[in-house]
Amino acid sequence: KIIPVILSGGVGSRLWPLSREHFPKQCLNLTHDHLSLLQQTAQRTQHLDVSEPVVVCNEDHRFLIAQQLQELGIKDARIVLEPIGRNTAPAITLAALEVNSDDTMLLVLPADHVINDTNAFEEAILQATSLAKENKLVTFGIQPTRPETGYGYIKAGQNFDVERFVEKPDSDKATEYLASGDYLWNSGMFLFKARTFLTELKTHREDIYQAVSKAYEKRSQDLDFVRVDTTIFSECPEESIDYAVMELTKKAKVVPYSGDWSDIGAWDALYDFSEKDSDQNVLIGDVMAEDTNNTLINARSRLVAAVGVSNLAIIETADAVLVIDKNNAQHVKKIVKRIQKEG
Ligand code: GDD
Ligand code: MG
Repeated sequence: KIIPVILSGGVGSRLWPLSREHFPKQCLNLTHDHLSLLQQTAQRTQHLDVSEPVVVCNEDHRFLIAQQLQELGIKDARIVLEPIGRNTAPAITLAALEVNSDDTMLLVLPADHVINDTNAFEEAILQATSLAKENKLVTFGIQPTRPETGYGYIKAGQNFDVERFVEKPDSDKATEYLASGDYLWNSGMFLFKARTFLTELKTHREDIYQAVSKAYEKRSQDLDFVRVDTTIFSECPEESIDYAVMELTKKAKVVPYSGDWSDIGAWDALYDFSEKDSDQNVLIGDVMAEDTNNTLINARSRLVAAVGVSNLAIIETADAVLVIDKNNAQHVKKIVKRIQKEG
C-alpha cells in the first residue's frame, strides 16, 4: 500500500506579492491550469493505486488546504498540523507516525512542484516500489541542466545505487558535479516504508525522532486535523530529510525520472516554465504591452500597461505591486524580510 505524503509547509516568499503568509505559494493558481500547485500534486496521486493522502502543513493554512482538497473530491485526507515549521525531516516523521503501519509505503511529494508528464511519473514510482519493498529509501533523480546550488546532488552507481548524496553544494562543487556527468539532482520526492524511514532517522538523528515522537504522542484530533504538542514540537531541531537522513544513510537508492519537473521557486522560474507570445512575453490578466519583450506581467485586479521595457517581472495585486528585473528574481526575499520587520 502506498500513501502519498504531501509536504505543504513552505510559504514561497520569493513569489511575493502573490504568495502571502496566510496564502502560501502551493495554494496559488500559478500555471495555466485551473488548479493550485497543491491540487495538482494531490490529483497526480489519484491516478496511482494509492490511498488518500496525508498532508503535513502549518496550522494557519488548515482551512485553505482542507477546502482545496475538498474541491478535488478528496474527502478522507488526513491533515497533520505543525505549530511551526521544523523543516522536512520532522514533517515526514509526523506522517510516518500518522500512518502507523510499518509496511505502508510513503510517497513523499513537495506540494509545489509542477509535473505534467504523469506517465513518466507513474513509471518511475512503479520502479521505485520494488526497491522500497526491500527496505530502501528511494529518491527520484533528475538530469541536471545547470550548476544549481539550491538542490541536492546524487552520484548514481549501478543498480540504482547512491554512491554519494550531497545536499546544496557550493557553486564550485555544483559546477564540478554537472561537468562530471555522474550526478543527478535530487527531485525532493521519496518513496520508502514508514518503518525504513523511522529506523534510519533513529540511527542518524535520534534527537529528531524522540522530539517528534513525544510531540505526536500528545496529539489531539478535531475534524480531519491532527494537532501535535506545540511546546515539544517547537523544541525539535530544525533539519531537512536531505541532511538528517539522505546524506548519511546506506540504504539510499535513486530511480531516474526523465519527465518534466519544475520547482517554481521565483518569478523567473514561472516565466521560464510558461508559454510565451511572439515577443517572448508572458501576460496574464488585464494587460497591455507595447514594445515590450521577455517580460512577465501578472495583473490580478487592475489594468497593467507596459511600454518599452524588457526583462521585467511586474506582479500587480490589490495592495502591492512588484516591479523587478527578472534576473534579480531571487532577491524578492529582501523585500519580504523588510515588510516583516517594518510592517
Ligand atoms: N510540512 C512541512 N513542514 N513542509 C515543509 C517544511 C516544514 O517545516 N519545510 C519545507 N517543507 C516543504 C516545502 O513546502 C516544499 O514543498 C518541500 O517541503 C521541500 O522544501 P524546500 O524548502 O522547498 O526544500 P528545497 O527546495 O530547499 O530542497 C529540497 O528540494 C530540492 C528539489 O526541489 C531538497 O530535497 C533538495 O535536495 C532537492 O534538490
Ligand atoms: Mg523547494
